[in-house]
Amino acid sequence: MTTTKITGVRPYGEDAADLYVRDGRFVDPVDDPDETLDAGGLIALPGLVDLHTHLREPGGEEAETVETGSAAAALGGYTAVFAMPNTDPVADSPVVVEHVWRRGREVGLVDVHPVGAVTVGLEGSRLAEMGMMAASPAGVRMFSDDGRCVNDPLVMRRALEYARALDAVVAQHAEDHRLTVGAQAHEGPVAARLGLAGWDPAAEESIVARDVMLAATAGARLHVCHLSTARSAEVLRWARERYDVRVSAEVTPHHLLLTDTAVQEYDPVHKVNPPLRPAADTEALRRALADGTVDCVATDHAPHAVEAKDCEWSAARPGMLGLQTALPVVVTTMVATGLLDWRGVARVCSETPARIAGLTDQGRPLTPGEPANLVLVDPDATWTVRGAELASRAENTPYEGMEMPVSVVHTMLRGRWTVRDGKVVASER
Ligand code: DOR
Ligand code: ZN
Repeated sequence: MTTTKITGVRPYGEDAADLYVRDGRFVDPVDDPDETLDAGGLIALPGLVDLHTHLREPGGEEAETVETGSAAAALGGYTAVFAMPNTDPVADSPVVVEHVWRRGREVGLVDVHPVGAVTVGLEGSRLAEMGMMAASPAGVRMFSDDGRCVNDPLVMRRALEYARALDAVVAQHAEDHRLTVGAQAHEGPVAARLGLAGWDPAAEESIVARDVMLAATAGARLHVCHLSTARSAEVLRWARERYDVRVSAEVTPHHLLLTDTAVQEYDPVHKVNPPLRPAADTEALRRALADGTVDCVATDHAPHAVEAKDCEWSAARPGMLGLQTALPVVVTTMVATGLLDWRGVARVCSETPARIAGLTDQGRPLTPGEPANLVLVDPDATWTVRGAELASRAENTPYEGMEMPVSVVHTMLRGRWTVRDGKVVASER
């Protein structure tokens, strides 16, 4: 069995140290490693964990597959991703979640955990086979109708009750659809000037407020997907201060960096749901992530084929790529601004999402005995985003041509390199 020595890394951006890996785990130092990787100056973090990825398989392979999405994830420093169920067919049954899970294992670049649908066909009325999905080999522990909100409060309450019994979490795409019919962009001056129907932020905030109460009643765990407004964060603060609610929330990199002024370019690459918000929200979200009100970062990586994006604004599908740009955007918005240090990055991009999803083998410390899930980052590198060069099948990045800080140099999944020198290492399976 080979022992790998990784020299000179800075765990969590702190003092230089050597790491030793054997049989998929970090181990105590040995005198005669079989191989040595000089990683002087690179920052070591636990492999990143994404609670919100759209891999599009089955049914949307023109935009992404488990294989291309896994490659993008590994190149972005991820070792685990949660694949949203808004596929075709919808992942609302054991058959579909098991298929996605198996494809993830075959590809072998990241752990692919399927998210099960809450309702049959994402239609919002009948609960999906949550128990069967939980009992399948995929072991589903997160359920969501993402792309759609579980709008009916009684259906949501029942979903929370089932989730509690399964020790699972319901991840809500918070959007009261009654308030966003035809909505195209954040409701405000930018949308008004462009003549685009507005997306009322209260559509999100009111569902967040409702759901924390439903979760309290059910004694269940709620996770809020892509929280996007200052007032949604306020609701969480208020609920947690006063009540014993088990609620967590994620923010996307794009809601930390981009604002609705980008919509003025009228390029559908900036169309996303929830929409880009004004700078006051962006700033509040950064503070909320720093102070723990928002628990973690999740990409909402949403690949779309050219036809779905290269069209008029109102016909375009919402969503943007995120896996390969998430860490640089977090560094830009949170580290360069002094809001988080690298320990904080490990917390919001790896440790906390792993805990929310109930993973026991991800987001762990870089210490002997723990699984060797690892990303090594060059803190001084810069690179320019080119959609065509990303590993995703789609190219809809909102950061085209933008210079990004930090690059992922190596990624390791359970002791096996998935990325070396910025390139995917093909699985030997
Ligand atoms: O922008 C989005 N795209 N928001 C969602 O909720 C769904 C996602 C998608 O599936 O493309
Ligand atoms: Zn969503």
